[in-house]
Amino acid sequence: MTQIELRGIEKFFGAVQVIHNLNLAIADNEFIVLLGQSGCGKTTTLRAIAGLETIDKGDILIDGKAVQHLKAADRDIAMVFQSFSLYPHMNVFENIAFPLRATRMGSGEVDKAVREVARVLRISDLLEKKPSALSGGDMQRVAIGRALVRRPKAMLMDEPIGALDAKLREEMRAEIKRLHVKQGSTTIYVTHDQIEAMSLADRIVIMHEGFIQQVGTPDDVYSRPANLFVAQFVGSPVMNIVEAGVAGEANAARVSIGEAPGGFEFPRELLSKLNGHSSGGLTLGIRPEGVLVRREAAPGYMPVEAQIIEPLGSFDIVDLKVGSKMLRARTKAGYVSGPGEKVHARIDPEQAHFFDTASGKSLGVRL
Ligand SMILES: Nc1ncnc2c1ncn2[C@@H]1O[C@H](COP(=O)(O)OP(=O)(O)O)[C@@H](O)[C@H]1O
Ligand SMILES: [Mg+2]
Repeated sequence: MTQIELRGIEKFFGAVQVIHNLNLAIADNEFIVLLGQSGCGKTTTLRAIAGLETIDKGDILIDGKAVQHLKAADRDIAMVFQSFSLYPHMNVFENIAFPLRATRMGSGEVDKAVREVARVLRISDLLEKKPSALSGGDMQRVAIGRALVRRPKAMLMDEPIGALDAKLREEMRAEIKRLHVKQGSTTIYVTHDQIEAMSLADRIVIMHEGFIQQVGTPDDVYSRPANLFVAQFVGSPVMNIVEAGVAGEANAARVSIGEAPGGFEFPRELLSKLNGHSSGGLTLGIRPEGVLVRREAAPGYMPVEAQIIEPLGSFDIVDLKVGSKMLRARTKAGYVSGPGEKVHARIDPEQAHFFDTASGKSLGVRL
């Protein structure tokens, strides 16, 4: 049972504030991912929870008890870093056993604990090897084993697989997930990689310049981004973001972008849901899969011209010129034959997002 709560955390380095009023409640057994660009404050937040960094304001509670004044050693939290930092002269067994040697645990018990962790991490056959004989993935397994062996209250992981190559990263990602399901411990995992975040997290905390932007399940942050930052940070290829105008018609609403004549047809209820944001200051967000493309004309579809086509294997990303603006659409591979082809496009209203341009905040419109 480990709950962690951060209340009103503020952190300065000199005169520079790097964490602003950070509030977050993490449930027992939850897998939380802190996601954001380099420099947004992820590592600082993690180190503060572990007790490796002081905070200037706020409370850090573990199971309801304030711990911000406790030393790292007294918080019973394990941390895994990107750099493995194994002891080169010790074999794998001794590396994993190391945190237990400082305790009063008997050697029989240490042996049992190390072998159990090695079994879970599937490195039992490596126990006699020195770190120099291991692959990058196995080194990181050993580092995770060393963190797990004390059965800490919580696991903190700072870009633990960031240094591995792409294939191994994918493998380790699945393994970390499996381990979490099996061991069940409260975990806070830091990454700048949104795919890693989406695949691992129960909830993702998206950070930008020391502020939390949104906290939610992978589906929440993908399907209901709270603001333009989240909308563009999560999802690949990136969501199209364009200034839009809206006009009402007898049975429809029309959303125009880039001074293109006509505009895209939307259900009329869009007008009431926009609640006064009908003209000026409105931004439309639509992911490439929400831009529907056909070769033939059809009701609700607008004629557009294809420009650059990016083949991505199982699908293409096609740039469509809409007036002075560009919309990227996702199509079946080869569906649009080449640049200059005239096709027809529609925006799927159910996948459209509307934001207030000035504040960047989502208007929460769902159609
Ligand atoms: N020890 C330090 N002294 C001064 N500035 C620091 C220190 N550690 C981090 N920073 C600054 O704090 C900000 C947040 O850093 P960090 O938490 O490492 O971000 P992230 O892990 O998201 O990349 C950055 O601007 C970084 O330069
Ligand atoms: Mg960092």
